[in-house]
Amino acid sequence: MAKEKQKSQEIPKKGRRSYAGGALLIVITAFIVIIFTGGIGYGVQSVMGAGEAKIDEGVMVDGVREFRILTPQWNFDPVILKVNPGDIVRFIVTSPDIMHGFAINELGVNLALKANEAMTTEIVIPKDIPEGTYTSYCSIFCGIGHPYMKGSIIVGERGFEIGGIIPYVTTGIMLGMFATSIIVIGRRRT
Ligand code: CUA
Repeated sequence: MAKEKQKSQEIPKKGRRSYAGGALLIVITAFIVIIFTGGIGYGVQSVMGAGEAKIDEGVMVDGVREFRILTPQWNFDPVILKVNPGDIVRFIVTSPDIMHGFAINELGVNLALKANEAMTTEIVIPKDIPEGTYTSYCSIFCGIGHPYMKGSIIVGERGFEIGGIIPYVTTGIMLGMFATSIIVIGRRRT
């Protein structure tokens, strides 16, 4: 009788201890998930180059939206431009080093740049252009970084961009894995 009593006291104690173990496992898993998610999110953003770049809306000069853009090897500065449908836009583009191009297919822009010589073009953004993000790119071969010499021009609203959603997708996957591990641990305890 005395032995049995002792045994029944032991069981809930043991159960409590393994519950604490499960909680610790969840905390460790959460910690790992946060580190991984942060790391992947940061990595993707720095690869895509969209993390820190700010959106440049140009300067209004006599009703013209004016952008002054530098094209050093191998990027555009500023790299993300924003205009509105119907805007008159002026691009003043200068290469500080070698020959580059500045092209936006959808807007009919293609400047051939010589070193230290400002090139200017003026366009009207069509009122009926589909809003979204268009790509600007270097159209003259300029070395190993040429294929990556790209920028964006947002017309109206930003629209869908794959680079912007990747960090959220990875976070979602991580949270899914986290939730699954909690369910598995929870099931094992009951
Ligand atoms: Cu710059 Cu190609």
